[in-house]
Amino acid sequence: MIELKNVSKVYPNGTIALDKVNLKFNKGDFVILMGESGAGKTTLLKIIRGDEEPTEGTVLFEGVDIQRYNRTSLRRKIGFAFQDLTLIDDRTVFDNVSLPMQFRGASFREIHNKVEAVLSEVRLREKMYKLVKELSYGEKQRVSIARALIYEPIVLLLDEPTGNLDVDTARAVLNFVEVLNERGTTVIMSTHHLIEFGNKPKGIIKIRKGRIVGKEYV
Ligand SMILES: Nc1ncnc2c1ncn2[C@@H]1O[C@H](COP(=O)(O)OP(=O)(O)O)[C@@H](O)[C@H]1O
Ligand SMILES: [Mg+2]
Repeated sequence: MIELKNVSKVYPNGTIALDKVNLKFNKGDFVILMGESGAGKTTLLKIIRGDEEPTEGTVLFEGVDIQRYNRTSLRRKIGFAFQDLTLIDDRTVFDNVSLPMQFRGASFREIHNKVEAVLSEVRLREKMYKLVKELSYGEKQRVSIARALIYEPIVLLLDEPTGNLDVDTARAVLNFVEVLNERGTTVIMSTHHLIEFGNKPKGIIKIRKGRIVGKEYV
């Protein structure tokens, strides 16, 4: 469903973030993108979502060049939980999760029902009206994932979702993501350290200095 053909990304300052990357992701995959800080993981995820344009090469989503794909439907089909969370600390969990829908001008009832449903999924229903700053980091991580789920994306991109979590919380977040994957969501997740979780075999793509240096299953 997603294919990268010969994708390179050179930032304006000359940094080569990705160097001739060829990858294919299929529906239902659970792929872990592994590499050290600076390897190009975030850039790769942004390119998969069309947030960054490759300097060279093409990205196909459902067979269509992503740069020509309708932006709005792309954003709905590909959910993204950013590494830096990008949550608004002084607002409630409800506000943060519903922001994408508020922008779209959905009705309050529609928004409320949807937010309640996704928060139940990430087991944060009871924190709906808490301010984000009152939550633990693990809870914030789940709020960020909940926001990415608001449009029931068919692909979920997670950028180092366990980066700042202790092992137990990380495993809980990942087990939850695995459930989503088992229900059919394609998951592409970056990490710089591997945490074992779940039972399903996952694809591991190793990236170093912008190049794919290994693919395996664990
Ligand atoms: N907006 C940017 N402008 C210039 N260089 C960037 C930018 N974003 C990332 N880089 C550089 O590109 C390389 C890959 O970065 P990134 O994709 O963020 O790696 P990772 O997520 O694996 O840590 C790094 O050398 C980083 O410094
Ligand atoms: Mg990164």
